[in-house]
Amino acid sequence: MTISLQSPLDMHLHFRDEEMLQLVAPLSGESFAGGLIMPNLVPPVDHLERLLAYRERITAALKGAEFEPYMALFFRQYSEQELAEAREHTLGIKLYPAGATTNSEAGVKAMDAVEPTFKLMEEMGIPLFVHGESDGFVMDREKEFLGMYDYLARKFPKLQITMEHITTADALEMLEQHENLRATVTLQHLVITLDDVAGGMLNPHLFCKPIAKRPEDREALLAAALAAHPKLMLGSDSAPHPVSQKECCGCAAGVFTAPLLLPRLAQLFDKHAALDNLQAFTSQNAQRLYNITPRKKTIVLEKADFVVPESYEGFGQKVVPMHAGETLTWRIHKVL
Ligand code: DOR
Ligand code: ZN
Repeated sequence: MTISLQSPLDMHLHFRDEEMLQLVAPLSGESFAGGLIMPNLVPPVDHLERLLAYRERITAALKGAEFEPYMALFFRQYSEQELAEAREHTLGIKLYPAGATTNSEAGVKAMDAVEPTFKLMEEMGIPLFVHGESDGFVMDREKEFLGMYDYLARKFPKLQITMEHITTADALEMLEQHENLRATVTLQHLVITLDDVAGGMLNPHLFCKPIAKRPEDREALLAAALAAHPKLMLGSDSAPHPVSQKECCGCAAGVFTAPLLLPRLAQLFDKHAALDNLQAFTSQNAQRLYNITPRKKTIVLEKADFVVPESYEGFGQKVVPMHAGETLTWRIHKVL
């Protein structure tokens, strides 16, 4: 049994820089036609020159793979001229509340102070991507941020706002409230709950932000993904960290999923008799919501065993993927 996916896209992806970039970029380049590359480097990608230089390093690391790196600027207050210059080189701007996650120290401290930039983005048709978490209790951070989405969506009704990596049933409800909201969801939030992270032996490789939530949240997200909800896109948040920063005291947040995303999603959609909707979830929804036409690439997946490697190594780096050492029931058969 096989299924062919046309030009799959990963609309939330961390490529990092230098050696880690060399290791991970080709892994997405193999099986995706493009992805939205997150700008939380140190220093952040918050100037056009930096973004263009980063894009060149990504292109070099991809080593000719048919993969379009859609770029995101790191949110700060931008002038109209800066936005006008950046516009054709970016898909949008990623906002991190200061300190919410990895490398977000340069993020926003007070949302009301940056409204002039939201206004400019709205007028210029530049999408806003948001890491939507408060600084409250860890399980409630996303829920507490939902009021901010509501406020922004009302105040800037033409601003296209993406609720990144949603993890709760409440977030799905908010998604329905406003025409200008859309969302990404990761693989891990469709298959795990907090129990898998910390309910038994602590699993650092499943620790990410936002943290995985309750079974009913996962069920709601899964139902929406399986139905290819038209405002929901795959955004893996694949976030590689060196194994030394995961298997330690003070584990970095991030789940590395890039190399197994499509096989694992095929397994999941197959299990729920929803393979017909995998194409829309992994490509068409993003194409429509972001008005992009990706490069042509066909990924043929087949129902056959795939043992996920224990780690991916190279360039002096070692990263442990989700499902390391486990056997998945689908694999990539060929790429055309
Ligand atoms: O778990 C996460 N890791 N969540 C994020 O928002 C950022 C990411 C990273 O960059 O490592
Ligand atoms: Zn992310």
